Amino acid sequence: MDITNAEFTSVYLFATEQAKVIGFLHYADLVLSIIIALIVGGILAYVIVRFREKPGDAEPVQDHGNTKLEIGWTVGTGLILAVLGVLTAGVMYSMSPPLGTNQPDVIVIGHQWWWEYRYPKLGIITANELFLPQGMNLLFEVRGADVVHSFWIPAFGQKMDAIPGHPNFLFYKPIRSGIYLGTCSEYCGADHGLMRIIATVLPVARFNAWAHGQAQVPPEPTVAQAIHGKQLFMANTCIQCHSISGTGAKARVGPDLTHIGSRTTLGSGVIPNDLPSLASWITNPQKFKPGCYMPNMRLKPADAHDIAAYLETLK
Ligand code: CUA
Repeated sequence: MDITNAEFTSVYLFATEQAKVIGFLHYADLVLSIIIALIVGGILAYVIVRFREKPGDAEPVQDHGNTKLEIGWTVGTGLILAVLGVLTAGVMYSMSPPLGTNQPDVIVIGHQWWWEYRYPKLGIITANELFLPQGMNLLFEVRGADVVHSFWIPAFGQKMDAIPGHPNFLFYKPIRSGIYLGTCSEYCGADHGLMRIIATVLPVARFNAWAHGQAQVPPEPTVAQAIHGKQLFMANTCIQCHSISGTGAKARVGPDLTHIGSRTTLGSGVIPNDLPSLASWITNPQKFKPGCYMPNMRLKPADAHDIAAYLETLK
């Protein structure tokens, strides 16, 4: 996965069906506004030129009010607003149809300062890098673990607040494969700017292959350094915060590390995921993400390296 080719920020990419519908409303409003501006501006320009005072003109006739005109522009404005209101309500309804008995396909949980992604129907829990199948209408449940965050991928259209104790729901139907970047968009503390979202939309067959891999328990490490790294991981406080399937690490405070080796970045998009970067991150996460809740464990460099070697085996 090459995130240097990811498509960032533009709300005009329309990577989901919902973003396309919002785009339609945007253009409809824009065209209507331009037409109104041209009509009003045109009449104004005509009046300014046509009724300009010429030398010797008499005092104009003084009058007050014109009931027909006033009713006309009040009703006209009301009709324009009614059209916009109906269009807007229709788009809002299509964004948030009744949930019925649907179960969420993806549960997004905003944490200080990273994203947890759960796929309850697939038995997958992962972090920071979101994968989605193309062409399926997916129900998202958005939650907050600690404070209010906001989940926003501009190319997907709608953003949604992640509020503790108040799950929100929205649908996304990704229609273009590709990698789309997003970010937390509700100020949530020190590392608000370092809560990046990397969403990869894959054709269904490739998504299924990804999901199959993520649902597996990772194999035991076979290289001496990685075996030692696993012992250190299980003996240190790592397991107070992190989970790795098939091991004694079952905590849900920090990101699930079951397949951390398959991710492109570390620390919610802060640094690339490779052995030297992961070893430096484990040695002192604060260097890359000041304020993050993972402490400096004061590990010996060789031990940090071995733990990183173990984690990199978790593909
Ligand atoms: Cu999370 Cu801002």
